Amino acid sequence: MNVATSIGKVDYDGLIPNNVGLGQDERVKRALEKWHPGYIDWWKDMGPDGFQESLVYLRTAVSVDPKGWAKFDYVKMPDYKWGILLAPQAEGRTIPFGAHAGEPAWQEVPGEYRAMLRRLIVIQGDTEPASVEQQRHLGKTAPSLYDLRNLFQVNVEEGRHLWAMVYLLQKYFGTDGREEAEALLQRRSGDADSPRMLGAFNEKTPDWLSFFMFTYFTDRDGKMQLEALAQSGFDPLSRTCRFMLTEEAHHMFVGETGVTRVIQKTCEAMKEAGITDPYDIARVRKLGVIDLPTIQKKANLHFSLTLDLFGNEISTNAANAFHAGLKGRYREHRLDDDHRLEHSTYPVLRLIDGQIRNEDAPALSALNMRLRDDYVNDANVGVGRWNKVIESFGIPFAIKLPHVAFNRHIGEFSKIHADVDGMVLSDAGWASKRADYLPGDSDKEFIESLMQPQFEPGKFASWIAPPKVGIDNRPGEFEYVKIA
Ligand SMILES: [Fe+2]
Ligand SMILES: [Fe+2]
Repeated sequence: MNVATSIGKVDYDGLIPNNVGLGQDERVKRALEKWHPGYIDWWKDMGPDGFQESLVYLRTAVSVDPKGWAKFDYVKMPDYKWGILLAPQAEGRTIPFGAHAGEPAWQEVPGEYRAMLRRLIVIQGDTEPASVEQQRHLGKTAPSLYDLRNLFQVNVEEGRHLWAMVYLLQKYFGTDGREEAEALLQRRSGDADSPRMLGAFNEKTPDWLSFFMFTYFTDRDGKMQLEALAQSGFDPLSRTCRFMLTEEAHHMFVGETGVTRVIQKTCEAMKEAGITDPYDIARVRKLGVIDLPTIQKKANLHFSLTLDLFGNEISTNAANAFHAGLKGRYREHRLDDDHRLEHSTYPVLRLIDGQIRNEDAPALSALNMRLRDDYVNDANVGVGRWNKVIESFGIPFAIKLPHVAFNRHIGEFSKIHADVDGMVLSDAGWASKRADYLPGDSDKEFIESLMQPQFEPGKFASWIAPPKVGIDNRPGEFEYVKIA
């Protein structure tokens, strides 16, 4: 079927599928075509290790309409159609916040904010290939073909998100945009000399529980940042982020349901073996499942690493980006205030005389904090669903997100140690309790021992339950990846 003619919106015939009229924009088309081989080289070097020839049952966007968004088909990943897809332009859109609130949204880069805007795009862009790099070795230990396919789906879409940001750089920022687009292919997650820009994107994703936690917690930071950028007065950025959010939702689905299935399997195994004490760790582990306290430790780790991505609680950069109309708040349009924030305050948790206390700060300076608060609320929703599963087995245990001061490396609380309840600890106190809160060597070794691939269609590794429904409603034994 010729998709381009049936949808009429996305030009699917060229090398780069797009709905931005690339065919009529020779300059940008050429710049992107020049960038493309470097991208493919990066993908082959740093993308999924060992599965480049396999046929993967992937969805590809063929339209940006809510209906008929995607089609599913077997593709070799290097042949995936990475494209440039923007949400439709809203007629008469105005800048929703900041000093220019109410003026028509910018269709071109506002000169006075050029550097700030480019920086926002580059930082967002840098996270996209970083996560692909972090996840590149996971394929070899996938617990099922279903999970393997989901991993690759997330990976190709993060690749497409890089394309989305590179398009903005190439189209709107001339020579320095092209240089930034190159540099995005040069940095490497975890590299000592040329690391990715943000800390959490230089950490390892060593096992599948980490992958699920990452997609639950860290992709959710991605969601919050995209939501804030989707409000932007620079309309092309807003439109590209709005479409990226539809893909991001799937990444968080993979994380949330992944952790749910791990918990489900642990509870089932405990029930079957007649184990009621969740802290009977040795016995639980003998069943080939991951004990609940270790799942909690992984959540503590990934949640706290992700909080660092929100930056300093009090931030001039965040204030400037809002004031300029470039980066808004989460669901700005639903907030009922003046959308300028020049005279309002926001409560910020700070370290005051060695104590963690709320203090009112100018709302503009507190925007990182506000986005982080929205994030924590959002992250708690899925945790509640995880706990429903545990509850349904009558096991006395609940996953709980740690206090925001716990295990921080950026911001107010990087100077102190705090426990998961936000009690300030001495260095010695932290040293003695650290292993109760964060995965230690023996936890890592145990999880690693479980990471044996299960590539038989319809089968799952010992430590994870099958999903409730298949991708694209496919039956249980469906061969999501034809490994070559
Ligand atoms: Fe992304
Ligand atoms: Fe993502």
